[in-house]
Amino acid sequence: MSRLDQIADLEKRFLLPTYNRYPVGFERGKGVFLYDFEGKKYLDFVAGLGVNALGHAHPRIVKTIREQAARVIHLSNLYYNEYQGQLAERLCQLSGLDFDRVFFSNSGTEAMEGAIKLARLAGHKAGGEAKSQLVALQGSYHGRTFGAMSLTGQEKYRKGFEPLLENVSFVAQNDVGALQAAVNANTCAIVLEPIFGEGGILECSEDFLRACRTLADQYQAALVFDEIQCGLGRTGHMFAFQGFGVVPDIVTIAKPIAAGVPLGAFLSKEHFASAISPGQHGTTFGGGPLACRVGLEYLAIVEEEHLLENVLKVGGYLHQQLQELVDKYAATREARGRGFIQGLVLDIPARPLVEQALAEGVLFNSTQDTVLRFLPPFLLEEKHVDKGIRVLKKLLGKKRKKAQSAASVAAASS
Ligand SMILES: Cc1ncc(COP(=O)(O)O)c(C=O)c1O
Repeated sequence: MSRLDQIADLEKRFLLPTYNRYPVGFERGKGVFLYDFEGKKYLDFVAGLGVNALGHAHPRIVKTIREQAARVIHLSNLYYNEYQGQLAERLCQLSGLDFDRVFFSNSGTEAMEGAIKLARLAGHKAGGEAKSQLVALQGSYHGRTFGAMSLTGQEKYRKGFEPLLENVSFVAQNDVGALQAAVNANTCAIVLEPIFGEGGILECSEDFLRACRTLADQYQAALVFDEIQCGLGRTGHMFAFQGFGVVPDIVTIAKPIAAGVPLGAFLSKEHFASAISPGQHGTTFGGGPLACRVGLEYLAIVEEEHLLENVLKVGGYLHQQLQELVDKYAATREARGRGFIQGLVLDIPARPLVEQALAEGVLFNSTQDTVLRFLPPFLLEEKHVDKGIRVLKKLLGKKRKKAQSAASVAAASS
């Protein structure tokens, strides 16, 4: 029995059956590559679902973790640690001082819980009737805990767990009319991902985001952006909202912030942050000295290694290459996204393609059945894109007939 089979067998016996894993496991990584138990090398376009923005085993991250682990890993939030305030300050600075206060959690879904709680509190303290309605988007994904799941606009994640959080209304992404009809004086928050990640790499239009901003202002509701997947550099901006020109009141982040050490956060404007007082929210692990020190190092590395510039440059190249596939291959439909959050929409199921790519030594990920999702490390170079595209060309099969452009195919099938 191979080592992988032994590992898989043990999991099958003892783990809750929640994951549908690909038939591969990894022992170690270096930069944009991972190595399986037999030592086979894989090019990583997944980056731990957007977490490993610095790739694997970045020497500065390894050194920071070593040093801090030897000093203190965890303290609890009963006491001060030297890094939590520093990381909060740095994040506020990087937001362009659009935010004043930060709360640290351990994961994305917990960041969402905190943001929802804050919006509800602010709604209760606004004077007059307590505002409780939450407006979210169909097709969105915000996490697995009850609050975040209640805002997730996909039946498959919610089914069987009802009753969920009350008073949530869903509107279609980019439907300004539906948004205007849903938001009212009882709305305490409009919650959205500027770019749907798990939902299939779909962007909110700037018009829609501006309408969200206007309505939130009109009804004194919090505009909450979930940037857990698209934030912290993945669009080529430190915060995705900086590329859309609409500033939310609360923004949630997680995934890459501590380079793989679990950490999440939400940033809030003072107006909403002032609704909360000691004892109303908290966490045992969140914001520990190890995670926060690594978070500071992550932000320093992104800046000093000019990684946002790389995301823009190589992301542009990736987009162009994916677009060429759409022009040439019959099984493809659309290339979408920006920076290092991109998708290739297929006319065929994406998972088999992901499995075939494993044999070729490339890791892709699929979402929404037919979308190949690309969330590579920020260190990815054009030569790595070329390798990924070579593999895709091999796997995509039949080419389009010359006269049949992608646009005419899309028009004919819509
Ligand atoms: C946009 C978005 N929000 C929330 C989450 C939940 O984050 P976590 O899995 O860290 O709880 C995710 C995770 O994929 C996400 O992509």
